[in-house]
Amino acid sequence: MIETNSRTILSGVQPSGDLHIGNYLGAIKNFVKMQNDFKCFFCVVDLHAITVKQNPELLSRNTLEVVATYIASGINPEKSVIFNQSSVSAHAELSWIFNCVTRMGWLSRMTQFKDKAGKDRENASSGLFIYPNLMAADILLYKATHVPVGNDQKQHLELTRDIAQKFNRDFNCEKFFPIPEPIIEDNTSRIMSLKDGNQKMSKSDLSDNSRISMTDETDSIVKKIKKAKTADVNMPSTMNEILKLSEINNLLNIYSGFSGKEKKILINEYQGKNFSKFKEDLSEILVDVINPISSEIKKLMQDQKFLKRIMLEGTNKANQVAKKTINDVYDIVGLIRNET
Ligand code: TRP
Repeated sequence: MIETNSRTILSGVQPSGDLHIGNYLGAIKNFVKMQNDFKCFFCVVDLHAITVKQNPELLSRNTLEVVATYIASGINPEKSVIFNQSSVSAHAELSWIFNCVTRMGWLSRMTQFKDKAGKDRENASSGLFIYPNLMAADILLYKATHVPVGNDQKQHLELTRDIAQKFNRDFNCEKFFPIPEPIIEDNTSRIMSLKDGNQKMSKSDLSDNSRISMTDETDSIVKKIKKAKTADVNMPSTMNEILKLSEINNLLNIYSGFSGKEKKILINEYQGKNFSKFKEDLSEILVDVINPISSEIKKLMQDQKFLKRIMLEGTNKANQVAKKTINDVYDIVGLIRNET
């Protein structure tokens, strides 16, 4: 039996295409460390992905690729529970209950919905609107106490906390759902586009040169870093000056994230110099870390049976916890679950 003890993490990654170094530094690399201190559930949120149009063949391939990337990056399936959301039906079931708890007004304030639906709101799927209820279900099914989130997901986590509180209050079951705490990623692990230091690195950016994917080959990494935007000055010597140059700051964050060297030390090393040697060294470090991960991802993608077996083991472990929670919820709400 899996124990959900006092420190449980749940996090979700959407299977919507190539994972890049922003996903790695902002999320996956930290997940690897968290495995030692928390009971971890790492979920590939395929039901979230279909709130916008997906190509079915690519969706299943991308789901496997997220699992491969997790494992290749050092998430240990013996320690952590790795699974895809749609395999554990309690996610959809609990999200329906939450559709009936969450108020329309709460959802209408979600900035991600406004951004994603854009001007053509009439044409957005209703799934996109209730997306945060499904995310709350992901988290609360496992009674997660902590959720690692980037800035863009903070508001959804606040909503999750509101849902947990309202459910506990409405059904008179104080403390049934814990109120999960965010673990906010620090600014240096927020990786921006290589072309524009004010834009988040994103898999949906039209320019492939704006990001480095975890499956990029050496020559492509070197080329992208060479082309990355810098500034018309040499490397400044103070953090203050650097913070004003968003592209330089971003490259330093990447360098620091991948090398483990503090930014201050890097600034000392490169101050007053032009960016060619800096970029050469940065490429080398990226290649050193990414190459082994990338070849492992490719190897794992050749063995989909293995990946599916890992996911099945994860699903079974996740189900043990999720079934207990959803059965309790049905009882609390007064739904009869008549099954053998
Ligand atoms: N909404 C998150 C994102 O787009 C993904 C996600 C789904 C998630 N369920 C989650 C993140 C639960 C943390 C916890 O990045």
